[in-house]
Amino acid sequence: MIRRFRAGWAKVTGKLGRFYCRRRYLNDVSQLIPYVSNVSTGIDHILRKAACRYDLLDQLDDVEESLDRVSRIDESIMNAVRSMKHPLTLEQRTTCYRHVLIGATHSESLILETVLDLLNTGSVTPQCGPVALDVSVSHDCKTIEFAVADGTLTVTDASLMWDCNCHDPYPAGYRRAPCPIHSKPLGESVTRAFNNGLVRITYDGISVFWRQKKDLWPPSIDAFHMVRNLDSDGYAKIPARTVCDVGCGTGFLGLWACNKNVSHKHVTFSDWLLSPLFVTYTNFSYFPHTLTLTPHYMLGLHDNWISKPPFGFRRLFDIVLCNPPYLPSIPGFEDVLYDSTVAGTDLLEYVIEHAATLGRTVYVNFSSIAQKEVNAVLRRTGHSLRRVGQAKIVPFRVRHAFDKVGYTHALAEDGRVIFRPDDIHPYWHSVSTYQVVAGRCGEQAD
Ligand SMILES: C[S@@+](CC[C@H](N)C(=O)[O-])C[C@H]1O[C@@H](n2cnc3c(N)ncnc32)[C@H](O)[C@@H]1O
Repeated sequence: MIRRFRAGWAKVTGKLGRFYCRRRYLNDVSQLIPYVSNVSTGIDHILRKAACRYDLLDQLDDVEESLDRVSRIDESIMNAVRSMKHPLTLEQRTTCYRHVLIGATHSESLILETVLDLLNTGSVTPQCGPVALDVSVSHDCKTIEFAVADGTLTVTDASLMWDCNCHDPYPAGYRRAPCPIHSKPLGESVTRAFNNGLVRITYDGISVFWRQKKDLWPPSIDAFHMVRNLDSDGYAKIPARTVCDVGCGTGFLGLWACNKNVSHKHVTFSDWLLSPLFVTYTNFSYFPHTLTLTPHYMLGLHDNWISKPPFGFRRLFDIVLCNPPYLPSIPGFEDVLYDSTVAGTDLLEYVIEHAATLGRTVYVNFSSIAQKEVNAVLRRTGHSLRRVGQAKIVPFRVRHAFDKVGYTHALAEDGRVIFRPDDIHPYWHSVSTYQVVAGRCGEQAD
C-alpha cells in the first residue's frame, strides 16, 4: 500500500511540477488570468485521476469486485452499440461507441486513461478467489473433465466444451438424447459451479480464468479448434516478434500463441469491452512467461483503439489472430444483435477487409453460418482466404440465438446450419480457420 501511495504521489507531484515549470516564464500578470482557472481544473483533473488510481488499485486486487464494476460499463456499451434500430456506418458506430464508453466510465467515477494505464504498466497483482470448477479439455477435445469440490465429472466423446443439451430447441422430428452432463450424478453441482463460480479452463497447456457473464466469452470448441489448426500449419516456427489477439475474450488465443512461438516478444490483447481486458490481464499475470515478453491491452471497436497502439498507428503486427462472433443479423431477426457480445459479423468482416493494414499474417476463424457475409466481403475487396488445417462440424448451441424465437429455424432454412434428428444436439455447423490473403491471388473460401 505504501509503495503504491509513493508511486501515485510521485506521479501527481511530477505532473504538478511540470505544469508549474511550463507556467513560470510568464511575466505579465494579466497573462496569468486564463491560467488561474486552468490550474484549478488541472489540479481537479490530477486529483480525480489519483483518486481513480487508488480506488482501482484497491479494487483490482479483487478480480471479482472490479469485474462487477466494469461490467456495468460493458452493458451500457453493448446496449447502445448493438441495439441501433438503423444500420450505422462504421464511423457512426465508432463515434457512438466512444461517446457511450466515456459517459459510462464517468458515471462509474473511472478515468479510462488511468484504467488502461494501470493495465499497461502492470501496476497490480490481481488475486483470484478460490476456483469453483476446473475444466480440463483433452487435446482432441473428446474428453472433458469437470472437477468440483465433491468429485470429477467426465464427459467422453464430447462435442462441445460445455456439452449440455438441456436448453437446445426440439424441432419436429428430433429425438432427444440424454444430456452428457445432467444425466450424471455430479451434473447439478458442476452446473452450479459453471454458472456462478470462478472457472479455470485448461487446454493444450494454457489455463485461463473465466466466469459466466454476458460480456465474457469462454474459450470454447472454436478456439481449441483454431489453435489446433494453427499448430498443424507450423505456427511455432513463424518468425514473429509481435502478435495481436483481436477480440481477446479471456486472452486464450494470445496466451497460446506466446506459449507456442518463442519468437513472440510483444503480445497485444484487444477487445471492445473492459471485462475481457481485465480478465485477460489477470490470465496473463498467472501465465508463466519470461521478462522478454511484454503484454499490451487495447480497448476499442475493431482496431479503432482509444489509446495509441504499442508501436504507433502505422506499424503492422507480424501476426493477427481473431476468433470473432459470427451470428448474422438476418431479415426479420435484426434484434439478434441486441445486447450481446456473441452476435454480429462486424468484427469478422472488418478483419478480413482490413487485413493488409492490420498484420503481415492474419488468421481468422469462423463458421459456415457467416459464409454469405464473408463471401460478400471477399467479392467487394478482392481478398481471398487460404484454409488452415481442417474444417470441423460442431453443434450450434448458442443460447442467445435460441432465445430469439424462430432465428435458428431461419438459419436452417437458409442452409446456414444443418439439422441432425438423431444426434446429441439438433443443429450443427462447420467451423474453419483461414489465413487472409490480400489481393486476388488465393483460393475462395467454400
Ligand atoms: C467469440 S469471442 C472469442 C474470444 C476469444 N478470442 C476466444 O477465442 O476465446 C469474440 C470476442 O470479440 C469481442 N468483440 C466482438 N465484437 C468486437 C468488435 N467490434 N471489436 C472488438 N472486439 C469485439 C467480444 O467482446 C469477444 O470477447
